[in-house]
Amino acid sequence: MKGEKHSFGFLTYSLGGVIVLTLISGIFLLVYYVPTFVQAFPSLQKVNEQVPFGWLVRRVHGAGGGFLLLLFMLHLFRVFFTGEYKSQRASTWVMEVLLVLTAAWAQFTGFFLPLSQEAYWGTAASLSAVSTLPWMGHSLVDFLRGGRELGGVALGRFLSMHIGAAALMALFFLLHARAANPYRKGDAPSSSEAKNLWGLGLVSLLLFAAVSLKAGWFTDPLRQATNPTVSPEGINPPWFLIFLPEAFSYFHSAYPTLAMLFWLLILALLFGLPYFDRNPEKGPLQRPVSLSLGTALVLGFMYYTLVGMAGAHYGEKVVLPGNQLTAAEVRGAQVYSLKNCAFCHQVLGHQGRREGPDMAVVRQRGRTAEWVQRFILNARLYQPGTTMPKYEISLEDLEALSAYLLSLDPTRRTFQAVDRQSLLDFGVPLGSAEKK
Ligand code: HEC
Repeated sequence: MKGEKHSFGFLTYSLGGVIVLTLISGIFLLVYYVPTFVQAFPSLQKVNEQVPFGWLVRRVHGAGGGFLLLLFMLHLFRVFFTGEYKSQRASTWVMEVLLVLTAAWAQFTGFFLPLSQEAYWGTAASLSAVSTLPWMGHSLVDFLRGGRELGGVALGRFLSMHIGAAALMALFFLLHARAANPYRKGDAPSSSEAKNLWGLGLVSLLLFAAVSLKAGWFTDPLRQATNPTVSPEGINPPWFLIFLPEAFSYFHSAYPTLAMLFWLLILALLFGLPYFDRNPEKGPLQRPVSLSLGTALVLGFMYYTLVGMAGAHYGEKVVLPGNQLTAAEVRGAQVYSLKNCAFCHQVLGHQGRREGPDMAVVRQRGRTAEWVQRFILNARLYQPGTTMPKYEISLEDLEALSAYLLSLDPTRRTFQAVDRQSLLDFGVPLGSAEKK
């Protein structure tokens, strides 16, 4: 049981410390935070700018939460890959899984609370990925939001879920620490005391580095209050959810039943691991099945995270039809770019997230200019529950936009990709466009 002792000492002491720090800083923030749609962002701005050391408390809270999730994940990986779960009680493993899930839940709900553009749209993108879950996706998301809109009701729900998840996490942590505690009743923890101190020191150092160096990684930098009608130029879902939209995008619509079974199986395997895996061998070569499954999952997670990160910047180029454009079509492309429609749409398979359909469908589906314009003004009239926001666009720009969208002809293979900035500044620079 030597490994267990070590794992208890190092991780439990340092994690306990981080949990306490995160909870205390959270209570402090709760005093100043005003949970309404309009006030949330300015109230945190005030914490940053006017409350003494408020900025520090925000950073500690953000870094603490991020650290907890990261360390719980690493701990779970270690227990899995070293086979440590075979020498501990099965319920300890379940607790460790619950720790990761509650920490992730607290992170996800906390991410929304500052209501910056990043927070709002990062959450919107994550939720829209969840809504593609077969059968239950839409009702699940409606439940989380408390309706069809991501607004004030959602904020209240997210705040209470955030606090609830944090409380559950602390509870699971206590239970886990008790179950894994090897020093019961007077059994003095002498030899590993020094190691614990080292562990505590190391984690504090890392936390300190995270707080002081790159605060934007863990804490919302509060660049801009959210505007639910204007999607931002880039997207930053919480780091552990970057994989979600990409991993879900095809699989769910193509094979809904299979997808659902797959996720249920993963969940069952995750929680039930020590119950399924009765093989007492710990060596990597003796447990090829569970190790290759686990490795495949970890690699899949990393792969889709990378794909998601690569797609996080889009719309730097704007796709235009290859032929000569009318003035209205050029203006339309500019409006398309200004409104960041690429946040959810690709054009002819390029430059954008794939949340909505490729814009080439407009022509393919035989839409009229009038239909397109009405749709853009209020997509919910046509598709209740769609994530596409309502737009306020002048009539002239709206006509230009529909002209641009209708000029995208999927049957003609030529298009040009123009630099966003030069399109906005100069229109289409003749000759400098790349032809494909
Ligand atoms: C937050 C995501 C999002 C943004 C931003 C967005 N859309 Fe959409 N859009 C969608 C989704 C999703 C659909 C599919 C409708 C549905 O079934 O929900 C859609 C559908 C459409 C359609 C209908 C396609 C068809 O013919 O069926 C058009 C046209 C359209 N969007 C244009 C735009 C334009 C122009 C912009 C920018 C001004 C824009 N969208 C911004 C998500 C978005």
